[in-house]
Amino acid sequence: MSDWISFYNFKHSVIYVNARHRDVHYRTIAQDIRAYVPRHSAAVLDYGCGEASSADLLAAACGHLSMVEAAPNVRAALSARYAGNSKISVLTPEQAAAQPPGSFDLIIMHSVAQYLSAAELDRLLGIFRNLLKPDGLCIIGDIVPPRLGAPAAALALLRFGAANGFFFAALGGLMRIFLSDYLRLKKTMGLSHYDEAAMLAKLAAAGFAAKRASRNIGHNQQRMTFLARPE
Ligand SMILES: C[S@@+](CC[C@H](N)C(=O)[O-])C[C@H]1O[C@@H](n2cnc3c(N)ncnc32)[C@H](O)[C@@H]1O
Repeated sequence: MSDWISFYNFKHSVIYVNARHRDVHYRTIAQDIRAYVPRHSAAVLDYGCGEASSADLLAAACGHLSMVEAAPNVRAALSARYAGNSKISVLTPEQAAAQPPGSFDLIIMHSVAQYLSAAELDRLLGIFRNLLKPDGLCIIGDIVPPRLGAPAAALALLRFGAANGFFFAALGGLMRIFLSDYLRLKKTMGLSHYDEAAMLAKLAAAGFAAKRASRNIGHNQQRMTFLARPE
C-alpha cells in the first residue's frame, strides 16, 4: 500500500472535519457527477471513490455503479454500507483493471491524481482508455494546479463550511489536519500538480481528446476538471 493509501485507510479520514462536512462533500460531488451520466442505463466507474456517502444518489441515475477504492478499510465500509443496493459493486483497483475492454460509459476519478506519481497517472489513464466504450466519457477532477498553496485550500474549506453550517468545525478541522500526518506525507511523498496544458498533453498521450470543464466538480473552483473522450 502506498503511504497515501495508508493515510486514507482510516475509518474516518481526518480530511473531513466532521460527519456533516463529509456528507455535504460527497453529496455535492455525487450531484455534480450525476449531471455527466449520459443515460439511465449507463455503466459508471468511480475510481478512488473514498467514503462516498452519497453513492446511492449517483447509482440512482445510472444502470450500474462500480466503486473502486484502494484502501481496504474504506472498501470494507463501502461494501457493508451498499450491500443492499444491487446497482452498486465495490471493487479493488486490480478487479477494475481486469474488467473487459469497453465496459463503461462514464469513468470518473476525482481528487485522486494529486496522490499519484506522473507514471502512475499515465498507467491509470491507459487503463481507463481501455475500459471506456468508444463513445464514453472519462472525467478527471480536482486537479491541483502548480503554486496553488495550502492557504488557498484552507480558505476554500472555510468558505464551504460557512455555506453549509460547519464553519467552526472547519476551523478546528484545519488544526487537526495540520497536526496529522498529512503535512508530513506532503513533504516526504509530495503531491502531484498539473497546469491545464500539462493535463491536456497527458490525456492526449493516453489517447483522449480532452478539454477543461467550465467548472470543477465539488467546492474548490481553483482546481480543475477535465472531460476526455476516446480519440
Ligand atoms: C481525497 S480522497 C478522494 C475521494 C473521492 N473521490 C472524493 O472526491 O472525495 C483520495 C483517494 O485517493 C485514493 N488513493 C490515494 N493514493 C492512491 C493510489 N496510489 N492508487 C489508488 N488510489 C489512491 C485514496 O484511497 C482515497 O480514496
